[in-house]
Amino acid sequence: MYNDLANTIRSKIDIVDIIGERIPLTARGKNFFCVCPFHDDSNPSMSVSREKQIYTCFSCHATGNVFTFLMNYEHIDFKETLKYLGEKVGIDTGNVHIAKKSNKYDKLYEAYKLSLKYFQNNLNSNIGKVAKKYLLERKIDDKLIKEFEIGLSLDKRDDLTKLLTSKEYDLVTLNRIGLATDNYDIYNDRIMFPLYDVSGRVVGFSGRIYKDSGKNKYLNTKETEIFKKGEILYHYHIAREECRIHKSVIVMEGFMDVIRASSIEIRNTVALMGTALTKEQVNLLKRLSNNIILCLDGDDPGQHATLNIGNMLFDMGVEVKVVVLPNPDDPDSFILKNGRDRFVGLLDSAINFSDYKMQRLRENVDFRSDEEKANYINKVLEETAKLNDIIRREVVLKRLAKEFDIGYNTLEMRINSLVKDEDKQEEVFIPKRTVEKKDKYSKAFEQIIYLMLNNDWVITQVERERLIFPSEVMRTINSEIIYYYKKYGNINVADFYTYVQDKENILIFLNKVLAGNYNETTNKEELFLYFKVVREYCLTQEIKRLTGLMKKEIDPLEQAKIAEKIRRLRLGDN
Ligand code: CTP
Ligand code: MN
Repeated sequence: MYNDLANTIRSKIDIVDIIGERIPLTARGKNFFCVCPFHDDSNPSMSVSREKQIYTCFSCHATGNVFTFLMNYEHIDFKETLKYLGEKVGIDTGNVHIAKKSNKYDKLYEAYKLSLKYFQNNLNSNIGKVAKKYLLERKIDDKLIKEFEIGLSLDKRDDLTKLLTSKEYDLVTLNRIGLATDNYDIYNDRIMFPLYDVSGRVVGFSGRIYKDSGKNKYLNTKETEIFKKGEILYHYHIAREECRIHKSVIVMEGFMDVIRASSIEIRNTVALMGTALTKEQVNLLKRLSNNIILCLDGDDPGQHATLNIGNMLFDMGVEVKVVVLPNPDDPDSFILKNGRDRFVGLLDSAINFSDYKMQRLRENVDFRSDEEKANYINKVLEETAKLNDIIRREVVLKRLAKEFDIGYNTLEMRINSLVKDEDKQEEVFIPKRTVEKKDKYSKAFEQIIYLMLNNDWVITQVERERLIFPSEVMRTINSEIIYYYKKYGNINVADFYTYVQDKENILIFLNKVLAGNYNETTNKEELFLYFKVVREYCLTQEIKRLTGLMKKEIDPLEQAKIAEKIRRLRLGDN
């Protein structure tokens, strides 16, 4: 269904743009490379071909066209993808009907939506005056209140619980999803900041005290089916577009910082919300941009977190940049005190994480003590050895040599002993092709299929030679290619993908073929060699089958007949 429409839309879309909007791409040769979003990855193992309009991961073998990419990346179905892309290129998709998907969590999202509206109403009514005053004093004006959907919970103990139970929510559910405790509201008299999941749905709240009540500053929603703290970053859904435009993501500690930054029109930001970074969150960050700027609080815990997070990302192959705020400022207070220009100035002067570490190593070293000095130099060398960039290593060594009047060669010798052999290798990452070991037959089959997908004349040859493939899936893909070619007059892999998208066994096979590093073009002579291998395989299989048959046969006459057949097959006379 919708095949022609899909092909029209696809022809107007560049997969490089669509993937590039979501993941940073690096051009190398004909192709673009990126970190594969479909497996846990820190190397650019996915290649995107502008020419073929497909992507291929050398590591997890995920491949496909722009539709499969969006379906898997955005977790949407084919029709939704059509609509999304249709709108992008201005093609009417009015006749593509999407059945409203029901999600088992719909009711929970709905409860959060209702609560959000309820909290917002409170803040905007008379009852919210004091809270509003607190916010305005903190320079959170009506515009920000609206933008971040800030609200207020009341000091009435069961207001929200009553409202929700009157709307078919039972207490058990409300307790389970973190909106009530027993018959009472969880949040009482707090300024309510909605927390969003990666698609921008409200899935939790953080409630802040605004009077001297001696209670916990923030009360957050507990983990629920829809609120998994380790899988969200505050502001992610907005940052996604903003980071693409600004080609960087700024990581802050609190949502107040993000809100403040937005007031000065900086929105390529996310907040960690106090938690240590999980692997999922790191993956989210990497999706936003490969230029990650840590801008945590200027106090000790903030700097400690900067080190931890920076190290964690460094080990995963990402070197972040660091902005150090004066202690004890956080972005919120810094911006309030100093204004936009100075904050932007700080961002512009962000330093590489390794340099940040070196700076921190200097702290509290007494350079009059030879021992402390040597200790410091050794630590710097250890850090420098981790750098994958020989130029940067040299810069550090020269600086050390000059500052401490040590021979460059001495430093170099020391660092070489620290650099692990594996790190000494190539500067440029070359995707390691983890193609499983295949026998020559599988290779030949797959090679032929790949050639068919790229060369019309090979399809004609395969058909003319009546090549018979040994397995069901190969035969199916072969006949689908031929059918497709006859119908559309040519073949391109990207559209063929759309065509076979419902046929799972074909897709799996196709993925193998595309990730297999096969030749794209060939000549007749070579092609016939592949054909020969296929025929040889079929022949051996047939001989095997007959031999089995012969062994089971009890009638000597029949046995002799089969033996004769085998003999003739072996002679190539059939
Ligand atoms: N946090 C929390 N509970 C706390 C303190 C902090 O959940 N008791 C989380 C919040 O998500 C907060 C983040 O950690 O956004 C950063 O904490 P902090 O720096 O203390 O918050 P600020 O953004 O400075 O908030 P405020 O300016 O209102 O004090
Ligand atoms: Mn803070």
